[in-house]
Formats: sequence, C-alpha cells, structure tokens
Amino acid sequence: MLVRREASGDAEVIRAVTAAAFARPGEDTPSEAPLVDWLRASPAWIPELSLVVVDPGGDVVGHVVCTRGNVGSAPVLALGPLSVRPDWQRRGAGKALVHAVLGAADALNEPLVVLLGSTGYYPKFGFRPAGEYEITPKYPKWIEHFQVRALTAYDPAVRGEFAYPEPFDRL
Ligand SMILES: CC(C)(COP(=O)(O)OP(=O)(O)OC[C@H]1O[C@@H](n2cnc3c(N)ncnc32)[C@H](O)[C@@H]1OP(=O)(O)O)[C@@H](O)C(=O)NCCC(=O)NCCS
Repeated sequence: MLVRREASGDAEVIRAVTAAAFARPGEDTPSEAPLVDWLRASPAWIPELSLVVVDPGGDVVGHVVCTRGNVGSAPVLALGPLSVRPDWQRRGAGKALVHAVLGAADALNEPLVVLLGSTGYYPKFGFRPAGEYEITPKYPKWIEHFQVRALTAYDPAVRGEFAYPEPFDRL
C-alpha cells in the first residue's frame, strides 16, 4: 500500500470507495459519498490534505480528507470522511491514511484536528476528548464522540465552539 495525494481523475473512485465503506442496509447512497464532492467544490477544501491509499496495482482503496473548520474565529481542521473499501479493511490502510494526514497537517502548521468518530479507533492516533481542550461541539449530544488531536502549532487560546465547514450542514 502507498499513500499519496488525491490526483485529478480520482474523484469518481473516491466517491465509490466512500459509498462502499459507509454502505448501510436500506440506504441507496450514503451521504458521506456526495459530502466529499461538496467539500471539494467548497472553499474549505485543502488539496494537500486529501489523501488516498492505493493497492499494489495502483487502485485507490481508501481515502481521507481534512477540511477547513473553525473554533470561534480560529482556523482549524475537520477530519473526515475517512473510508477504506470493505475488502481492504483491517489491513492497516486506515492507519496509514490517518498517520499520513496528521503528518501533512502538522507540516502545514495547522494547530489541531477535530472529528466526530469512534472512541475505540481514534485515540490510538493521539485524539483526546475535545473537552480536554475546551473545544465544544455545536450539539451537546456529540460530546461523547467529539475528539481533538493537537499538533505542534497547538495554541491553548484556540478554544470555544467548533464549526464544521458548510457542506457538513447538508448531511
Ligand atoms: C474505520 C476504517 C476507516 C478503519 O480502516 P481500516 O483500514 O479498516 O483500519 P486499520 O486496519 O488501519 O486498523 C487500525 C487499527 O484500528 C483497529 N480498528 C479497525 N477498525 C476499527 C473500528 N471500527 N473500531 C475500533 N478499532 C478498529 C484495528 O484493529 C487496528 O488496530 P491495531 O493498530 O491495534 O492493530 C474502516 O474500517 C472504514 O472505512 N469503516 C467504514 C467507514 C467509517 O466508519 N469511517 C470512519 C468514520 S469515523
């Protein structure tokens, strides 16, 4: 497996991988699939932070993206969607993507990354409950799964309510 930046022409396979990863019984197309397209078309998109993992044949089998969110007026990153094609899950692809995107975000001098996700999965990458950083979600019901990864440029002055970029509001 190799991780690289999303290239032109990858959008379609990223949509398919995302749809397959998030497929739920009784739902035609999981909303996470168009979300990636909406984000790509929005000002929140950061091309350096849309990464794919490819199998030895060069096929895209996973994707991760961080986009521009805010804590108060401070720019931060929102991680997600993160997707690995079902037949490639549990083989380290997700781990490779998360490490790579966090490293890229750190290199870009971003202060922190926020996500709403599994507390069984993300703490192994340094994510902590967001409350420890005094960063709060829009909806109190998110608190249990609301996590923050501080990067090198973390500044404790960045605290308050987190806002996802606008395309997340369409979910
Ligand atoms: C979640 C997801 C991205 C993980 O990717 P993956 O390639 O299967 O995961 P990896 O093989 O890299 O696993 C890394 C580690 O996490 C563990 N893990 C994998 N999936 C897990 C899960 N759902 N919950 C808890 N731990 C998990 C693995 O056992 C492994 O542990 P280890 O480092 O101790 O060996 C993938 O399963 C997926 O696409 N799921 C559907 C979409 C989704 O839920 N995305 C995340 C939304 S928050």
